Formats: sequence, C-alpha cells, structure tokens
Amino acid sequence: MAGQRRVAGVPSAPSAGRSGIAIGLFSPLPERYDLLCEVLSLGQNRRWRRAMVGPIAERRPARVLDVATGTGAVAIELADRCDAQIVGCDLTDSMLRAGRRRVESAGLDHQISLTRARAEHLPFPDGAFDALTFTYLLRYVEDPGATLAELARVLKPGAPMASLDFLVPPSLPWRLAWWCYTRIVLPAAGWAAGGPPWWRVGRFLGPSITAHDRRYPVAWTVQAWEAAGMVDVHAKAMSLGGGLVMWGRRAGG
Ligand SMILES: C[S@@+](CC[C@H](N)C(=O)[O-])C[C@H]1O[C@@H](n2cnc3c(N)ncnc32)[C@H](O)[C@@H]1O
Repeated sequence: MAGQRRVAGVPSAPSAGRSGIAIGLFSPLPERYDLLCEVLSLGQNRRWRRAMVGPIAERRPARVLDVATGTGAVAIELADRCDAQIVGCDLTDSMLRAGRRRVESAGLDHQISLTRARAEHLPFPDGAFDALTFTYLLRYVEDPGATLAELARVLKPGAPMASLDFLVPPSLPWRLAWWCYTRIVLPAAGWAAGGPPWWRVGRFLGPSITAHDRRYPVAWTVQAWEAAGMVDVHAKAMSLGGGLVMWGRRAGG
C-alpha cells in the first residue's frame, strides 16, 4: 500500500500526519457534533448508520468493537438493537468525553465502554471480538490496507465487520449537485451553524472525499478487505452514491 501523499486542496494539518489532521478537526466539535452531523448530512448519516448496524446486530454478537466511535453514535445504535458488550475506541479525547456523557445519559454505561486507541494499533489480543464496526475512518490513516489488517486481526474467525464512509456519487448530474453541496453549501452552513471549527470541517470534507475516492476507489477497498483476510465482502452505495456501507466476515470459523 502506498504511503501518505500531500493532497492538493486539503487544508494543512494542525500537527503532522493524518492522525494530527483528525485530532485537529474533531477536538473542537463534540458539543454540537451529533446534531450538526445529522443536519449537515441532510439526515442521511442516520440512515447509513442503521443500514450498517442492522446485519451486525442480527448476528447477536457477544462482544463488539466500534472503531472511530467518536461520540458513540454507532455504539449506542448497536446497544439499542442487541445485548452485546460494546467497546468503542477513538483517537480524540474530547469526542470520547462527549461520548461517555451521552452513553451515561442513555443509561447504557453497563453495556458500552469508550476508550482511547488508534485503529492502526489496537490494544486488544487477536480474535478478541465477535463483530467490529468502523465509520469514516480510512481517510484519516496513512495506510488503509494495513489498518484493515489490524481491524481484522482482533476479530474471531467467521466474525462480521461493517463500515460506513462517504463516496463521490457516480452519476454526473448528482456528482455536480454533490460538488456544489460539499464545496459551497457545507462550509457556509457549517460556519452558520457551528462557527469556525465547522467551517474548517466543511472546507476539509469535500476535497478529502474526492481525493480518497480517487486514490482508493470502491474496487480497491473491496480488495483491501479481502487482502486483510475478510471474505463475503460486499459494498452498497446509498443516497445516490453519497454513502458507502460495506460488510464482510473474517475468513474461517
Ligand atoms: C467523522 S467521526 C465519526 C464518529 C462516529 N463514528 C460517528 O459516526 O458519528 C471520525 C472519528 O474518527 C476518529 N479517528 C480518526 N482517525 C482515527 C484513528 N486512526 N484511530 C481511531 N480513531 C480515529 C476521529 O477522532 C473521529 O472521532
């Protein structure tokens, strides 16, 4: 897998590396994150999350890891739909703090625990989990293929994995509308709703989605899951191609 390359059009990082970009972007966001995520995604984020979690919850896993959990939305969705013990991990302390408050006020602290960990080096033994979810993660890692292998490592043989990310809509008219939305509306609406931190996110996201999609198209990502030891890998584009949900299971079992 190729190493990191500077991506034209993506604002420079507050500290070195993609983890630095993520920490710089997300640290000021948690207070309004859950609301603005739904508003700025025009309600699609919730739909995509539900679609991703559904097949995982149906398998009734005993122990699930949610990577890049942020404020815990996926972990809470999982807890609402199955009895699993859920560990959520993330890089950004302020997101985790907001997540812990959210989990506590939902009365789910007996079922969900949130911890600081990097997706690239998970502090869990091989085969520790019965299922794994991750959302909007791979644009923030230097080597998506190696990170996928690390995620697969902590799954039991046969255990399912699911992911959610943004995508560039494939059809030209929708791509044009998406481009206008991500390059013009998103930064402006971000500024209006959340001030400078959300303007920065609005400016970052569109070019980052385009750059990631060019460098790691869906076919590449499917192959990278397979190279990481996953089988039955399938991908579903949602909302006219603006979102991508993927599922697979670790070989064996
Ligand atoms: C867009 S947020 C998604 C949060 C949550 N999953 C959701 O759907 O609302 C992306 C999250 O990925 C986290 N992140 C970025 N790089 C990471 C890494 N290498 N390891 C763990 N978490 C990471 C960020 O801190 C941020 O909280």
